[in-house]
Amino acid sequence: MTQDELKQAVARAAIDYVPQGIIGVGTGSTANFFVDELAKIKGRFDGAVASSEATAQRLKGHGIAVYELNEVGELEVYVDGADEITVNMHMIKGGGGALTREKIVAACSRKFICLADKSKLVDVLGRFPLPVEVIPMARSYVAREMVKLGGQPRLREGFVTDNGNLILDVHGLNIMNPVEMETSLNQIVGVVTNGLFARRGADVLLLGTPEGVKTMRA
Ligand code: 5RP
Repeated sequence: MTQDELKQAVARAAIDYVPQGIIGVGTGSTANFFVDELAKIKGRFDGAVASSEATAQRLKGHGIAVYELNEVGELEVYVDGADEITVNMHMIKGGGGALTREKIVAACSRKFICLADKSKLVDVLGRFPLPVEVIPMARSYVAREMVKLGGQPRLREGFVTDNGNLILDVHGLNIMNPVEMETSLNQIVGVVTNGLFARRGADVLLLGTPEGVKTMRA
């Protein structure tokens, strides 16, 4: 099976978790497959909150109602992909640059369903460079702080987030304690959001493998 077929399989499996009301929807190629699956059942739920402008456009393109998070309050379920995930349900996210809105929608959701193909399951986070969204004027300062932590930050060239900020992709971090690292990165002035989703990890992982979709829980 190709990686896209594995992503499609987990997207299909996630349909079982769609509530009747409003669902939170993430960003990226796996989330896109999920949006396409949602389109097939659009009469069965009320609409969605999107974690990015790109996802909002895709949802609207399918005729699915898109709501502002502030209009709806708490969500029952948030469905999104990940760049890396461990069996402890800690993740690196933000490969698509939507980490801030993803973290906000995840925080407002009772259940986080992570969709991933088997290449995303890792023992230790950090092979995938950690995305860090920064306020533009703090870019160099935050980069120096990342070097102090042992990372090699690289500016994501030509990319501006939906919030008007920049992304530093930090290579070479060995993230043995994701909760601690997420907390300390949050303390750096100028950091908007870091791509560690450990304090609020996933509740359910739907993992695409050639043998079928495996369900793992926190
Ligand atoms: C976007 C994300 C995505 O969930 C992550 O990058 C995975 O993307 P894909 O499903 O394309 O592999 O965090 O900001």
